[in-house]
Amino acid sequence: MDAQILSGKTVSSAVYDGLTSRIENLKSKGIIPGLAVILVGEDPASQVYVNSKTKKFSTLGLFSETIKLPADTSENDLISHINTLNADDRFHGILVQLPLPKHIDSDRILNTITPEKDVDGFHPVNLGNLTAGKPTFIPCTPKGIMRILSHYNIDLSGKHVVVVGRSNIVGRPISILTSMKSPMTNATVTICHSGTKDIFQYTRQADVVILALGSPEFLQGDHIKDGAVVIDVGINRVDVNSEKGYKLVGDGEEASLLKKASAITPVPGGVGPMTIAMLVENTVEAAERSL
Ligand code: GUN
Repeated sequence: MDAQILSGKTVSSAVYDGLTSRIENLKSKGIIPGLAVILVGEDPASQVYVNSKTKKFSTLGLFSETIKLPADTSENDLISHINTLNADDRFHGILVQLPLPKHIDSDRILNTITPEKDVDGFHPVNLGNLTAGKPTFIPCTPKGIMRILSHYNIDLSGKHVVVVGRSNIVGRPISILTSMKSPMTNATVTICHSGTKDIFQYTRQADVVILALGSPEFLQGDHIKDGAVVIDVGINRVDVNSEKGYKLVGDGEEASLLKKASAITPVPGGVGPMTIAMLVENTVEAAERSL
């Protein structure tokens, strides 16, 4: 039987429904949750991500503004933009779209965003709080993955979760969240990365595989055990002969995984919509904390 589809569209709709009354409550107090997005350069994928984030804010009647800066913006200029936004009360959240051009030190930039407005959860204070088991802002993609798992009642307790990828955006934080000592989590976690010898040796032992490496169709059906759950964070553009010229595929090869897994997130329509929903939720949370 084919795997169950874990739909990020369904779960994100439930998240937005749940946020409606919180947004109304803020508005009744004269507060409209606001997000500032900074986009440096012309990376086409980043432009698409930023547009879908700000479009969602506008659909929900929230405030957002995108600051587009040229690719040759200096690190100091970018820092002074962030300092201005840190002091601007209209914005409860600030997001600097990654990746940044190579001449800019991303860590220095992320450290400049005030932790209270760091709705991406990338500031060392927020990452530190997460690591210490007392999260303040949880990065949006891993938070969205946890929400999908809980929505579909997938209990990780005592399970073996294998994470492929160790980025600060997904791999590292999801390994912390899945191993936390609380009901539905409490998993045993293995992190695989570019230094791992024979990654598939680990994925074949996994009850849950989380793919966050950015390599198109890396994992196939014969790399997992029967009935495993596959969470696919990859969104890769591969060239095809179509009007668009490309199609989006995950880090997993969907056709063969569907036959072997018990449940899988599709690409697109899986983790992607959840990242945006969690960004909205974190921004609403930031606005509530400002009350
Ligand atoms: N680039 C890819 N994912 C993300 C994300 O979640 N936040 C930001 N700021 N940039 C990204």
